Amino acid sequence: MAPDLDALLEDAIAAARLAQGIHRYYQARGFTAESKTVLSDLVTEADREAESAIRDFLARRHPDFAFLGEEEGESGQGEYRWIVDPLDGTVNFAHRFPMYAVSVALARGDEVLVGVVLDSAHDELFTAVRGGGAYLNGTRIRVSETQELKRSLLATGFPYDVERVPEAVEYFRRVISLGIPVRRPGAAALDLAYVAAGRIDGFWEMKLNPWDVAAGVLLVEEAGGRVTDLKGHPFSLEKPFILASNGSIHEPLLRELSGIP
Ligand code: IPD
Ligand code: CA
Ligand code: CA
Repeated sequence: MAPDLDALLEDAIAAARLAQGIHRYYQARGFTAESKTVLSDLVTEADREAESAIRDFLARRHPDFAFLGEEEGESGQGEYRWIVDPLDGTVNFAHRFPMYAVSVALARGDEVLVGVVLDSAHDELFTAVRGGGAYLNGTRIRVSETQELKRSLLATGFPYDVERVPEAVEYFRRVISLGIPVRRPGAAALDLAYVAAGRIDGFWEMKLNPWDVAAGVLLVEEAGGRVTDLKGHPFSLEKPFILASNGSIHEPLLRELSGIP
C-alpha cells in the first residue's frame, strides 16, 4: 500500500516542533557546548535531547521505519527511513546567532518523500511531500527567477576540517572572484530551504551528511529547482556533495566550478 505522505508530513512536523521547543528551552535557560571533532565542531544538550525526543516520538508512531540521526546514528530497520538533523547550525545556536533549524526527512532508499525544515528562532516552517510542491508556513514557495549567474546571490558552507579540503576554498575563491555575492549562513538545511523560497539563487557545499540535506533537497526540487553533485551528476544522499539552484544558473555555475578535483 502506498504510504499516506500527508499523514507522514504531519508526523514530521510534530517531531520538528518537539525539537523547536527544546532549542528554545536551552536558548532561554543556557546550555553547555562541547567540541566533537575539532574545536569549532560543537554539540550541546539541545542537539542530544532534540534527537532523542524525535527518535522516541517517531519510533512510537512508526515502529517499522528505520531512523538515522546525527548524534546517535542508525536504529531500527525498514524500507522507509527517517533522516534527522536535530539541530542544524549548532555553532550559530551556541553563539546565539539566530540561524539554526531542525531537519526531518523520510526517505525510501535515496528518494526523499517528505521533508521538513523548521527555523526554530524565526518560526519558519518549510515543508514538502514528493509531487506536492513546497511550502513556507503553509504558503506555496518557488525558486527564484534569476537568469544570470552574475546577478545571483549564492550561499555556501565549509566542512569543519576545511584545512584538509583545499578545494572548498578554491570553489569559494572562484565564485567571489567573479564579483558574485556569496553568504555563509551556517546551517545547510536552511541554505537549501532559502533556495526553495527564492531568497538565494544557489547553494553549494562539499562533504555534507545525509541529515544536513535530505529534507532540503526535496524542498528545492518541489519548489522547481535543480539539485546535482558538484560535477553535475545526479545527487545522492550517500555522498552529499551538493549544488542546488533555481535551475537557470545551474549550468553556468557548474562551468565556473569545473576543473577542481
Ligand atoms: C553544519 C551546518 C553548516 C555546514 C556544516 C554542517 P551542524 O551542521 O550545516 O552550515 O557548513 O558542514 O556540518 O554541525 O551544525 O549540524
Ligand atoms: Ca548539520
Ligand atoms: Ca546537527
